[in-house]
This record gives sequence, structure tokens and C-alpha cells, in this order.
Amino acid sequence: MAGVKMNIEVHENEINKQRQFMHKVKSMNELQGKQLFGYVDTYGCQQNESDSEKLRGMLTEMGYKITGDENKADIAILNTCAIRENAENRVLGNTGALIHTKKANRKQLIVFCGCLAGVPETVEKIKNSYHHVGLVFPPNNLWRFPELLHRSLTGKKRVFETECEETKIAEGIPLHRDGTIKAWLPVMYGCDNFCSYCIVPYVRGRERSRKRNAIIEEAETLVKSGYKDITLLGQNVNSYNDGETDFPSLIRMINDIEGDFLIRFMTSHPKDASLELFKAMAESEKAAKHIHLPFQAGSNRILKLMNRGYTQESYLEKITTARKLMPNIVITSDVIVGYPGETEDEFNETLKLVEKAQFDAMFTFIYSKRPGTAAAKQSDSLTREEKQVMFERLMDLQNEISDRKHEAYTGKEILVLVDGEAPGEEYPLKARTNGGRLVHLTGDPKQTGKFTKVKITHSNNWSLFGEVLHD
Ligand code: SAH
Ligand code: SF4
Ligand code: F3S
Repeated sequence: MAGVKMNIEVHENEINKQRQFMHKVKSMNELQGKQLFGYVDTYGCQQNESDSEKLRGMLTEMGYKITGDENKADIAILNTCAIRENAENRVLGNTGALIHTKKANRKQLIVFCGCLAGVPETVEKIKNSYHHVGLVFPPNNLWRFPELLHRSLTGKKRVFETECEETKIAEGIPLHRDGTIKAWLPVMYGCDNFCSYCIVPYVRGRERSRKRNAIIEEAETLVKSGYKDITLLGQNVNSYNDGETDFPSLIRMINDIEGDFLIRFMTSHPKDASLELFKAMAESEKAAKHIHLPFQAGSNRILKLMNRGYTQESYLEKITTARKLMPNIVITSDVIVGYPGETEDEFNETLKLVEKAQFDAMFTFIYSKRPGTAAAKQSDSLTREEKQVMFERLMDLQNEISDRKHEAYTGKEILVLVDGEAPGEEYPLKARTNGGRLVHLTGDPKQTGKFTKVKITHSNNWSLFGEVLHD
């Protein structure tokens, strides 16, 4: 099939080699005669959260107990994000702060992984100015963590394993899932879209899809274990293709798994959001009626510069189609303000799109120059203050729309999944609507993990409030 690359799985022998390293590290740790602790701090998107579940799985397998306290940790891992400069600054600030935990425990190993470890400029910085960091590897070397850890623990040198042969898929890595109700399920890795502003394709490598059987088996196990909310993950799930199955078919297949659960997915690229995708969502009763469909900009000139592959008109047509098939669908989006060269008129096109699209919620970002991307070479004419004004205008407009959308829930009785607790607070339960909107609830903690009928009493621009109904 066109565009599908074969033989992308890491060979079983290689995975077995990593298992042996896990075993070696575990035996070494046992000789110390005390419980060792591992700490994983996650930044960035769901993909990184999912990777952290693998890091915790491997740590657990090697005998480490997971802790939330970096002071107690024998291994402190920063799983980092490179998407915007402020994300990078936050990570570097926290990396710097770990010098104190390292001083208190000279044996502590500080690991710097995730997307920032795929940025050569940042790796140089770590090498030269963050001497307390002992191990560095980018996302595509994550499956080799046991080997790299073993090398760090047995050698005297700092380990920088920043080269990856080629981007592959590693199956069979132990997982330590964070929750018991909601689960991440990666279906594809990497990105080939090269949106001009975005660093992800450089740090996560080429797009590749997991085999459908591996995904379905994992979904079945999740459902059997009682998970109720499964999010299929990928930078662009719509381009999922393992050579046999495309994304709409994958949704239908997961929908056929018996059980009471919801299927969500993140993120969809508008250029690949097809009629077939919307039909699969509409016809699959377990598919949550929500789509996160980032539009990024309203102006067709800026969209072209961004290399997005659609226009304002074709974007709006897609969401009209989605709403025709699923009248109650929740649509959320991302937008960037202040792309290099964006004019006032072009920004007004963004406002126009937001007005027309009527998103339920929107994440607004100020453009951030990322090293190595195409947009980094384009000159940026607006000042930070000008961008801030645009940012606030957009936020105000969206807040008004979200307020109105949320108000419409008031008085309604709806089914939600109670997925969290906030003990001691006025609303001790947290839940999500089918469309993914957050609901703060009064009710009994024994509702947690259940699909429950609730009555919405009021709302604000970010969430809904309600009470559990007793029948
Ligand atoms: N793969 C996803 C997005 C991942 S990044 C997708 O294509 O939808 C999440 C969001 O961060 C993007 O949708 C975009 O709005 C924002 N973003 C990415 N790079 C950025 C940059 N350089 N500056 C500001 N925002 C950016
Ligand atoms: Fe980045 Fe574009 Fe890929 Fe999303 S689709 S990860 S914005 S390059
Ligand atoms: Fe950040 Fe990497 Fe995700 S750059 S947003 S953690 S893919």
C-alpha cells in the first residue's frame, strides 16, 4: 500500500536483550539490600504521558518503587517537551533545581529524556551546563532505557545516546499505567506533516503505525481490566495505516469489542479528517462524540505558509459535515497567534473562523520560534505585546462562545463517566461528558469509575457543575 513502510518493528531479539538488561539491573539493585525509588516527571502531551507509563513500567520491572518525591529518588527522570520555548524554560528550570537533590544524594542518577533530548541545541546545553544530568536519550530510544540505564550505573561517564538508527516501533515494553478508569493507547508514533512552526517531526521521527492486532489486543485487555475510557493516541491519528487497516476501520474494530467503554482519540489533522472518519464515529456507539481538530490559523495565506494542507473554507466544511452526522458533537481546537508575518487582517480571519466554527473549547498559543523548523527562518514582525493583545482578543471571543455552549447544558440530565475524586471539596467528584467536557459533581465517591446519570446545575466557560441523580 502506498506510503506504508514495512518492517518497522524492533526485532524480538532486541526486545529480549532489553529484558536481560532489566534483569541485570534488578539483580544489581537487590545486592544493595534496600528499596530503591524511581521518580518520573512528565511534561507535554499525552504521548509523553504514555511514554512515562513505559518508563515507570521498566523501572518497576527493575525493582524500583515509584515515588512522587524527587528527594527520595535514586533515579529522577525528566520526560520533557519541546513544543514551545516556555515549555523548554520550565523544564530547564526544573532540571537546574535537581542539582540540590543530587547534592544530597551523590548517587542519584538524573535522566533527561523526551522531546527536548531530541533537540541538538538543548543537548549541548545539558552537556555543558547541567553536569548533574547523567543520562540523556530522545523519545525514539525510550525502548532502550534498560540498556542505557545499565551503562550509566556500571560506567563512570555521563551517557548521551542521542543517535537513533531509524524510527521503529517497540512492542512488549512493560507498562505501569497511571489510572484505572482512563487509559492511553498509542496507535501511531512520529509525524510526517512538517507544519512549518512545529518541532515534533524532528524530535519524534517519521510516522509509523502499530499493527492493528497489537492495538486490538491491548484494547481488549484494557476493557477486561475495567478501563472505561480509552484514548487512541498519535500526533495525527487520521493517517494511521498499518498496511491493512486505516483509522476509521480501526475505530469500528475497537467498537466491536464487547463491554461498556468509550473510545476517544487525539489528535486529528483536518487535512485527513475524512467523511469516512465522521461516519465511523457516528456509527460506532462507543466512539465519544468529540473531535479535537486544531485549525491553527484562519488566513489561507498563513495556513499555506504553515504547510497545513487546507483552507479556512475546507476546514469549516469538514466541521459542518461532522455536525450533520453527529448533531451533538463537541469540537475543540488549537490556534496559534502571531505566526511570522501575520497581519492584523489575517488575524481577523482567525477571529472570523472562531466565530463561524463555534468551538466548545479552544487552546490558544502564542507562536514560539523552534530551532530547526522552517518558520524559524522567517522574520517575525510583531512584538510580544502585540501578540499578547491578539491572544487576549481571541481568548475573550472563545470564552464567550464556551460560556454560551456550556450554559446550554444547564437543567439537562446527561450520562457522564465519573473519573476522579476531589476529596473535601464542595464538588467531590470529577466526571467527563461523552463529548469530553469536565463536570464537577456532588455525589458519593462510590460512583467513581461508573457511567452515571447527572443533572447539570450551572457552568462556566471551562466546565460544568452538577449532581448525581439517584433513581
Ligand atoms: N499533532 C498535533 C499537535 C501537537 S502540538 C496536531 O497536529 O494537531 C499541540 C499544539 O501546539 C498544536 O496544535 C499547535 O497549536 C501548538 N504548537 C505547535 N508548535 C507550536 C509553536 N512553535 N508555537 C506555538 N504553538 C505551537
Ligand atoms: Fe506538529 Fe503538524 Fe505534526 Fe501536529 S501535524 S505534530 S502540528 S508537524
Ligand atoms: Fe511536547 Fe513532544 Fe508532545 S514536543 S507536545 S511532548 S510530542
